[in-house]
Amino acid sequence: MASPSRPSTEWKAAAAARDAIGQADAPGDEIAPTIASVKEARMRTQVGIVGAGPAGLMLSHLLHRQGISSVVIESRSREYVEHRLRAGVLEQGSVDLLRETGLGARLDREGMRHEGIELRFDGESHRVPMTELTGRAITVYGQQEVVKDLIAARLDAGGTILFEAPAERLSGLDSAPVIHFRHQGREEELHCDFVVGCDGYHGISRPAVPDGVLTTYERTYPFAWLGVLAAAPPAVDELIYAHHERGFALYSMRSPQISRLYLQVPADEDIADWPDERIWAELRTRLETVPNWTLNEGPILEKGITPLRSLVVEPMQWQRLYLAGDAVHIVPPTGAKGMNLALADVALLGDAFAAWYADGSTELLDGYSRTALRRVWRAQQFSWWMTSMLHRLNADDPYEAKLQSATLRYVSTSRSYATSLAENYVGLPQV
Ligand code: FAD
Ligand code: DHB
Repeated sequence: MASPSRPSTEWKAAAAARDAIGQADAPGDEIAPTIASVKEARMRTQVGIVGAGPAGLMLSHLLHRQGISSVVIESRSREYVEHRLRAGVLEQGSVDLLRETGLGARLDREGMRHEGIELRFDGESHRVPMTELTGRAITVYGQQEVVKDLIAARLDAGGTILFEAPAERLSGLDSAPVIHFRHQGREEELHCDFVVGCDGYHGISRPAVPDGVLTTYERTYPFAWLGVLAAAPPAVDELIYAHHERGFALYSMRSPQISRLYLQVPADEDIADWPDERIWAELRTRLETVPNWTLNEGPILEKGITPLRSLVVEPMQWQRLYLAGDAVHIVPPTGAKGMNLALADVALLGDAFAAWYADGSTELLDGYSRTALRRVWRAQQFSWWMTSMLHRLNADDPYEAKLQSATLRYVSTSRSYATSLAENYVGLPQV
């Protein structure tokens, strides 16, 4: 790999960036804080990051802690990314990462630690005691809360996140990368040593790799999830994954006042066909299947439909472009792995860039894709397995339905099979 300049401290990098744009040094900021202040000048940083989701923001945070400068380019507004309703389950490893990097305070106050989940099927409830089986736990804490905490930490540390700045293309990836983006009606350029594409499946980073370099492995499912956020106190302390002949349902939560619920629906379903009363009726049918258990209902605050898919693109790197999170892999949400995988990818990248900027070592950077893909494929298999076990599959195939029942009964009665579910669900420390 050709060696661009390797400043030893973040301060030096920030100073170099300001030199490049002709700005005076200002303690605390890593690079020109707003594009308005750089005018036509060249903007430079060490690592250019596309996308301010959990992956891009966490990477920027980790790099800052290693004294490496970065700029995050995000197409949406801050308000939008801080309120985008998505995943809610943090694995133990993700919680540890947030705590170890100084982001544990609100998580520890507001996050809900869960030591088990319930599997509900055939009119019975079965608890999988995750902590008893693995010594580890999960924490329910909304993805948008993680995003808010990360944005606050970056901005407090003088970091630069450019919102409403869509990246349009990448160039110079073989030696001197540039992110070309629009901001406030102008075409802008960010010059960097490396680009990390954290811009999700619909981003521009992955398509910047020439045809024929990447291999895509993919599976689509004939169903989607209808998700609702409801102002209703959760009726339970732990998540319920329910298998029902009408389809899968999931009972989750965001706080002692707010429930988060999901229903399996056909892939082409229109949310307009689901007035609130129909949603509650279907949730009652699929969840009120055990004695003395009723759903708590309340006003629906938000609802939407998310298609399910499995996808991996390999390798996760090309030249000076590294790809992380949903930009290179998608899992169906049944295993609650999407956000956790995104954080695990950038934890590897944080260490790899730290090693490279410290002494020019390329070992971790070169091994990034191979190492990350081991966890990615473990999560792919687990998410596919949970999805296949819990959803209503092909209605015309009674053999498949019988296999599902056998699997559910086995995982509910065998300690070793339940341990396999639990260790994947809470997240394997090493893969
Ligand atoms: P993202 O969070 O998608 O972040 C990518 C960022 O890049 C976005 O902010 C986007 O605006 C930005 N971007 C895109 N293109 C550009 C561009 N050209 N220029 C600049 N910025 C750009 N997982 C679960 O486990 N459970 C769930 O219930 C669940 N629900 C989901 C619902 C939806 C609708 C979606 C899309 C995903 C859901 N996921 C869920 C998956 C989980 O949220 C993702 O795995 C996680 O967001 C991945 O983080 P990321 O940082 O890789 O990508
Ligand atoms: C939630 C989402 C999931 O995909 C899951 O498996 C569990 C919980 C949630 O949004 O709370």
